[in-house]
Formats: sequence, C-alpha cells, structure tokens
Amino acid sequence: ATGQLLDTLRRPMRDLRISVTDRCNFRCSYCMPKEVFGKDYPYLPHSDLLTFEEITRLARVFVAHGVHKIRLTGGEPLLRKNIEILVEQLAQLRTPEGQPVELALTTNGSLLARKARALKDAGLDRVTVSLDGLDDTVFRRMNDVDFPVAEVLAGLEAAQAAGLGPLKVNMVVKRGTNEHEILPMARHFRGTGIVLRFIEYMDVGATNGWRMDEVLPSAQVVRRVQEEFPLRALDATVAGETAERWAYEDGAGEIGVISSVTQAFCGTCNRARLSTEGRLYLCLFAEQGWDLRTLLRGGASDEELASAVGHIWQGRGDRYSQLRGRQPAEAGPARRRVEMSYIGG
Ligand code: GTP
Ligand code: 5AD
Ligand code: SF4
Ligand code: SF4
Repeated sequence: ATGQLLDTLRRPMRDLRISVTDRCNFRCSYCMPKEVFGKDYPYLPHSDLLTFEEITRLARVFVAHGVHKIRLTGGEPLLRKNIEILVEQLAQLRTPEGQPVELALTTNGSLLARKARALKDAGLDRVTVSLDGLDDTVFRRMNDVDFPVAEVLAGLEAAQAAGLGPLKVNMVVKRGTNEHEILPMARHFRGTGIVLRFIEYMDVGATNGWRMDEVLPSAQVVRRVQEEFPLRALDATVAGETAERWAYEDGAGEIGVISSVTQAFCGTCNRARLSTEGRLYLCLFAEQGWDLRTLLRGGASDEELASAVGHIWQGRGDRYSQLRGRQPAEAGPARRRVEMSYIGG
C-alpha cells in the first residue's frame, strides 16, 4: 500500500473514471454531434483498447493509491461486449483498509433494461442514467437517433428492480432546447427515491459548438424548481462531490445541480480519468493524457506502474473550470481538448 497521494493543490486521488469505449449509439448534440461523429469517424481500433485484464490491473494500482470509487463510462459503456465480466473483476478489488471499492456506471439507459440484472449480479453498486427530458419529441431530438424516452424509463425501472441504487438521473440543461423539461422532470422523479441532477451544459471537447448563452445557470434551475416545490440546501455527503444537493421540504427526496460553468468545483476535484486506450487524464478538459498502456504492454511491474501513477498525480495542478471563468473556451488549433465521448465525462 502507498501513503496518501496529494497533487500540487493538495487534492487527494479518490475517484477513478474509466472509459471502456469511445462509441455510442446516441448522437447528443452537446457530446457527439452527427456532423462530426459520422460514418467515417475514426474510432479506436480494437487492438488499442485496454483489455479487461489490463483495466483491472491498472485499477488495482489506483486503488492502492487511495481510489475508493470507480465509475465506468464511455461513450456508452454498455456497448462494450461482456462489460459484466469487467465489473466482476473490479468487484474483487479491495482498498488498503480491506474495503470493496464502490462501483458505479454512467449510461444513456438504452441497453439497461436488458443488462441491469447481470450488472447487479456481477457486483455493480449503482448506475446513473442520462435523460434530458420526458417529452418524447424533445428527447428524440436531443439524442438525435430518434430513441424513445419510454425505453430509457424501462431501463431505469429495471435498474431499480435489480437494486442498482441509489439511482441518479443526469439531465444536461440547454437553454432554449430542453429548459421546459426541468419541471416535468422534477415532478416525475420526486418521491421515487431517484435523485435527479441538473447539469450545466459544458464546453467539453472541441466539436459541440458550445456557447455561454445556451447555458442555464444552476441558480436559475433551482429557482424554477423552488417556485413549485420549496427546497432546502443540504451539506455535501462526500468530499469533492460534483453536485450541490437540495432537499424537497416536503420530504419527497432530493435533487442536485452540477455547476461546472458558473461555480467551478476544481478546488476539491479528486478525479482521475483513464481513457479507453489507457491514457491517464488529470482533468476533463486536459489536452493530453499520460500513456500508461505503453508501460503496461512494455512489461512494467506493478511497482513501476504505481510509481508512475504516483508521480503523475503529484505533479497535477489542473483546474480548468476555475481558470476558465465564464469565458468561452478558446477555439482554434491552439487547444486540442479531448472529446467527452473519449474521456467519459
Ligand atoms: P456521483 O458519484 O453520482 O456523484 O457521480 P458524478 O457526478 O461524479 O459523475 P457523472 O458521470 O454522473 O457526471 C455528472 C456530470 O458531472 C457530467 O456532466 C460530468 O461530465 C460532470 N463531471 C464529473 N466529474 C467532473 C469533473 O471533475 N469536472 C467537471 N467539470 N465536470 C465533471
Ligand atoms: N456538458 C455537460 N454534461 C455533458 N454530458 C455529456 N456532454 C456534456 C456537456 N457538454 C453528460 C452526459 C452524462 C455525463 C457523463 O455527462 O449527459 O450524463
Ligand atoms: Fe452518448 Fe452520453 Fe455522449 Fe449522449 S452524452 S452521445 S448518450 S456518450
Ligand atoms: Fe476537476 Fe478539471 Fe473538472 Fe476542475 S475542470 S473539476 S480540475 S476535472
């Protein structure tokens, strides 16, 4: 085991987000716009992807360094063949204190009805489902592949029945596109035990054409929900959480807001990100990752891997959202940020 690892801003490494595929069956305009992610898009070839054994071996190194929570992401993680086998392997990991690691997955829900049971049986603890509205027309337009909302709701139900909770729903709010879905979504998920979280539309990647005027600040989201349902602010449960939590005064549960544009949370950011091809990214907005796959495939020992990861984290000073302020991201070739679908959000 290793001592507690801190970066240059004294932030520990607690969360590991692992992207298991850069592909997705949706084309949400804020993430994989059709015009860019078309038939000819150069997705990673299979030989570039880390195998499940490679992922688990790296994950073990991160857990020894203090990671307590692992989240599988994509693209759409349920598109990765036999993903439940990876879950099974990761579920065996133990922290230096001998505890199992918390295992979660963020999905668009399209394949969840089919897979929820197997994922639970493999040892997955929780899922978070992305859903941008309840109105079928709005939702079909936002996923841009005409996917019906009813199937995502069926996926949520299956996840709930399988005991993959506490369930969360992520709604990316785009002003002028789905802001009218805020209240219907709040009404729908109140009292279900599912935590609905409203996410400010972020300037991730370089292809989504982000504009500040399409961001609806979380303060306004909270105000709109407040007008119908009184809310009370809650304390954070976990250090470094992305969401600010609010409880319904009448006891019907809670909502969250994730405000990376108007209220950056870099100060407590404890997340490391591993790309599908085994690059370690220290920030969602990083331009470059550290190639761990070459080390891995070059025959590095566990000690060598641990030492590399330790040094990389100790050199970390990333705090993009804080520095960006409310300015739009710089465009052009100067910045070549990774895509959300590649790094997994
Ligand atoms: P919980 O364990 O449920 O708190 O999950 P999470 O909020 O850490 O992860 P999730 O995949 O549900 O992401 C929710 C939203 O927060 C997505 O839009 C992510 O892109 C965004 N997000 C997650 N981590 C970070 C981060 O470190 N920085 C920024 N700027 N956004 C993040
Ligand atoms: N801004 C904010 N959230 C985003 N997501 C994808 N792209 C963006 C963006 N540009 C969300 C997805 C998913 C989570 C991992 O990130 O909807 O819920
Ligand atoms: Fe796919 Fe999620 Fe990106 Fe939408 S946000 S295109 S569902 S990875
Ligand atoms: Fe962490 Fe980077 Fe997000 Fe800030 S912008 S919270 S440093 S991932």
